[in-house]
Amino acid sequence: MDIDYKNEIKRLKQELPVTVVGHYYQRDEVFDMADITGDSLELARKCKADKNPWVVFCGVGFMGQSVKVIAPHKRVIMPKMACCAMAKMIDGVTFDQSVDFMVKAGIKKENILPITYINSDVSVKSKVGEMGGLVCTSSNAFKIIEKGLESGKKILFVPDRCLGQNFANSMELKSCIIGDNQDPNNCDVICYDGFCSVHQLFTVEDIEFYREKYPNILIAVHPECDPKIVEKADFSGSTSMLIKYVNELDINQKVAVGTEYNLVNRMREKNTFVLSSTKPECPTMNETTLEDLYLALKSIEDNNPINEIAIDEHTTKWANIALERMLDIK
Ligand code: 13P
Ligand code: SF4
Repeated sequence: MDIDYKNEIKRLKQELPVTVVGHYYQRDEVFDMADITGDSLELARKCKADKNPWVVFCGVGFMGQSVKVIAPHKRVIMPKMACCAMAKMIDGVTFDQSVDFMVKAGIKKENILPITYINSDVSVKSKVGEMGGLVCTSSNAFKIIEKGLESGKKILFVPDRCLGQNFANSMELKSCIIGDNQDPNNCDVICYDGFCSVHQLFTVEDIEFYREKYPNILIAVHPECDPKIVEKADFSGSTSMLIKYVNELDINQKVAVGTEYNLVNRMREKNTFVLSSTKPECPTMNETTLEDLYLALKSIEDNNPINEIAIDEHTTKWANIALERMLDIK
């Protein structure tokens, strides 16, 4: 007999002390089942405040890890161990190599302040915490970099070169990318060469196409897009900020949005366009299905939890410090 996943998920949520969490990029049918939704910063804050001992996180690995780090007493499981492609671009070894690159250029280690985008593995967050650094998300990067600059240190920004450059540009700071042959001594923000392949899909030609077709259209993009795109856009912000921006527009105002497809498709129906000729779907965010969510909840009921997040004590301690330094900045 076929399982009615939706009804079974509802039953399991009622019977178990569990909170289902869903990032905005999840498939609609999975997103609809979530008790807590939001962008990565909101999810971290809301999960920390939530009372249930179990969290089933529909998103990508670094998000589930972050919940486990800021609330180590919780049991966190993921319907799919999906890993954000950008987060995979850096690990402890390449992080250390980035620090070495700056040291070899003559910058003392104690004069480097590392900031890691939340889209990174917990091992990287831990190394950042140990060096006195902190985490940021796309919704608080401006504030975090501003705060970081107060230390008078050079900022090593990992792993997203676009986010690092976009915020440096908006603050009129000088940035460079490791490997681009610029001298880090002449830069305020030194970026690791990581990126999001989904947000690289948006092009200047896409913007020109829409502006030509609808002269008054507005362009709103996520700051993971290339600086060339952000510079030409009317607005740039995190997933929550994009939702707010679009919702506050007059219904007759056309807008083209440059971020993941599931989110844009869920925005107001009228006059909202996806800023790309190809469908910008995040492959890893789309991995989680309703069946996976059901199986994850069922595994708790059966006392045999699947895909549970476990992080060693040392890594948890320092990653927690890096995340809490961020959460303390209001
Ligand atoms: P937000 O912090 O805006 O939720 O973004 C997370 C992400 O992975 C964007 O690609
Ligand atoms: Fe990672 Fe990009 Fe997917 Fe966001 S959209 S989860 S940055 S791969």
